Amino acid sequence: MDILELNDIHKSYYINDKEFKVLKGIDISFNQGEFVSLLGESGGGKSTLMNIVGGLDSNYQGDVLLNGSSLKHDTDKQLDEYRRKTIGFIFQNFNLIGHMTILDNVRVALEMSNLSHAEQNKRSEGLLKRVGLGEHIHKHPNQLSGGQKQRVAIARALASEPDIIIADEPTGALDAQNTDEILKLLDEIASEGKLVITVTHSDKVAAYGTRVVHMANGKIDSDKQLREPYKTEPSSGMSLRPLRMYQAFLMAFQQMMYNIKRNSLVMIGSSIGLFSVIIMLGLGSGIKGYINEQIYSQVNPNSVQVLNGDPDNTTDILKYDMSSKDIDKVKSVKGVKSVEKGAMELSVQLNYNKKTSVAQDFNTYNSTLLDKNISKGKKPNKLNTIMLSEGVAKKLNSRTKDLIGKKIRMTFTAIGNDGKQVPMSKELTVSGISNIDYSLISTSYDTLKKIYSSNNQKIKTNFITVNISGGVSNVKATQKRIEDLKNSNGKKNFTVTGANAEVSTLNTYVNLAVNVLASISGISLLVSAIMIIVVLSISVSERTKEIGILRALGVTKGNIRELFFSEAILLGLCSSLFSIIIAGLLEFLINNISNQAIKYPIIQISPLNIVFIIFVSLFINILAAIIPSERASKLDPVDSLSAE
Ligand SMILES: Nc1ncnc2c1ncn2[C@@H]1O[C@H](COP(=O)(O)OP(=O)(O)OP(=O)(O)O)[C@@H](O)[C@H]1O
Ligand SMILES: [Mg+2]
Repeated sequence: MDILELNDIHKSYYINDKEFKVLKGIDISFNQGEFVSLLGESGGGKSTLMNIVGGLDSNYQGDVLLNGSSLKHDTDKQLDEYRRKTIGFIFQNFNLIGHMTILDNVRVALEMSNLSHAEQNKRSEGLLKRVGLGEHIHKHPNQLSGGQKQRVAIARALASEPDIIIADEPTGALDAQNTDEILKLLDEIASEGKLVITVTHSDKVAAYGTRVVHMANGKIDSDKQLREPYKTEPSSGMSLRPLRMYQAFLMAFQQMMYNIKRNSLVMIGSSIGLFSVIIMLGLGSGIKGYINEQIYSQVNPNSVQVLNGDPDNTTDILKYDMSSKDIDKVKSVKGVKSVEKGAMELSVQLNYNKKTSVAQDFNTYNSTLLDKNISKGKKPNKLNTIMLSEGVAKKLNSRTKDLIGKKIRMTFTAIGNDGKQVPMSKELTVSGISNIDYSLISTSYDTLKKIYSSNNQKIKTNFITVNISGGVSNVKATQKRIEDLKNSNGKKNFTVTGANAEVSTLNTYVNLAVNVLASISGISLLVSAIMIIVVLSISVSERTKEIGILRALGVTKGNIRELFFSEAILLGLCSSLFSIIIAGLLEFLINNISNQAIKYPIIQISPLNIVFIIFVSLFINILAAIIPSERASKLDPVDSLSAE
């Protein structure tokens, strides 16, 4: 049976709806061991016919039968397989891949086999030796002469042991001596039992074959056998499959390395946006951390103050009174460890040695203050003792330490039980000085209670200090539970103030600022996305020919798509890694400075930030790759091969 049979092949090209008939009914069959020369005038449709036979063009009428079975109803995938296994192409203009060594140019065809990498290399080397290029395997195509290039193309066409070799004017660009050598090689291939079809314009070349076929007017007008076809049984071909994903990835990597300069620039360009986003995020957590540290170093994060009213209305605070029922209610809230009663006064006057100082705030001592806030002396735990903040104390004695143990007079106007103002005054002993930077004095609740009772008044509990167990998050949750408590009218009646409340509002602001800044830097990500689209599109245009070559070798559409996606993923990975390294360096440098200046590392890039940036970068690049890679995969193999 004939290995290849063409039945009534018709093919027309349409230009502006005008039909140009090129093939007008080709009927011919070919057998193993034949070396067929196809002659015919230029523009007569020889290449068109060869593209149909080679499975590059499936848009024709009629039928191509391989070993009796038709190609007509083959899917794209089956045609890919047909090109991969059955056909070896040799083109007039060589069609080698410029960025690969000639060894790799041959090996590409074997990447789709089950041979190991070493076996692929060995076989490719063997084939290159056979065509006389054993010493040049590490050269790139542009370092070879035309004849040498054509021999690489022959080695490549033979690599996967196809049954049919199609050579479209293989010697068109060669001198007489090279032509002879190439023809000898082709004849040798036929002698191994393959079918070799050579398109040529030269009668001398045609005379070399076993059979000469001539085309005219879109038909075969003569078909002569010159000598017997070779009778050798061809070796059974090797098993081939599409490229694996990692192979496409490696190919993309090779291609990137070949274009390393341009790709480095692209990588640096797109890492600028990523870099600024990481720095913004790192700076955000640094600033938040710094604020928290600053605030918690002043006050106890586990203590909050609770009052039943609106804390913004300062003069009213003195009228607030927590009943013992209220206090019990708060005490029973989950997370509350203990509760201390507290009271406030406003504008308290102090006198010592004819000197006067006025404190804006008076708070009974409570555990929102930390021990480290007491710079000198002790807290005012004992009855009739008082603690002054540094600023208040300075006005009584510039050497504030000397005040400790001294008696000073405290005078203030309280609001009495009948709502009228009641002046009160009491001599107290200074127990200690606090380093709090606002004007504050404190006695114990019991001391103030005694002053009230000696004036025949009952003290109000203006607020309570609630100690909460556990970490900051528990404080937040407990705070929320206290705020949600309702009075008998079903209304919320407790307000919570404290370091924690302030820190979380501050954090909200910092978060907001960071997110705004990060989004602004995000705009540069958009720029890098556009850049990637442009770069990949250029890459597709530049490599149209390469895509055509790969398709002719049986690389699938999906493989081509993977190739460009791999390139985008590689670019994304490289640019995110680059931006992470640069950001890490900057973090190191700036934190060195800020550790000295404010004793705190102000940039804190977390592992989560890093993962986030890699993810964002990959996402952008993959998104940007969709259009170019789709375009590349949809390229028509015949058109791509004729691209300049
Ligand atoms: N993609 C195409 N679109 C439109 N017309 C085309 C296309 N490809 C080829 N043709 C036309 O089809 C005809 C046959 O072209 P083909 O390349 O098959 O000729 P050929 O016999 O190989 O010629 P040559 O010997 O010069 O290589 C020519 O007239 C050509 O202009
Ligand atoms: Mg041609």
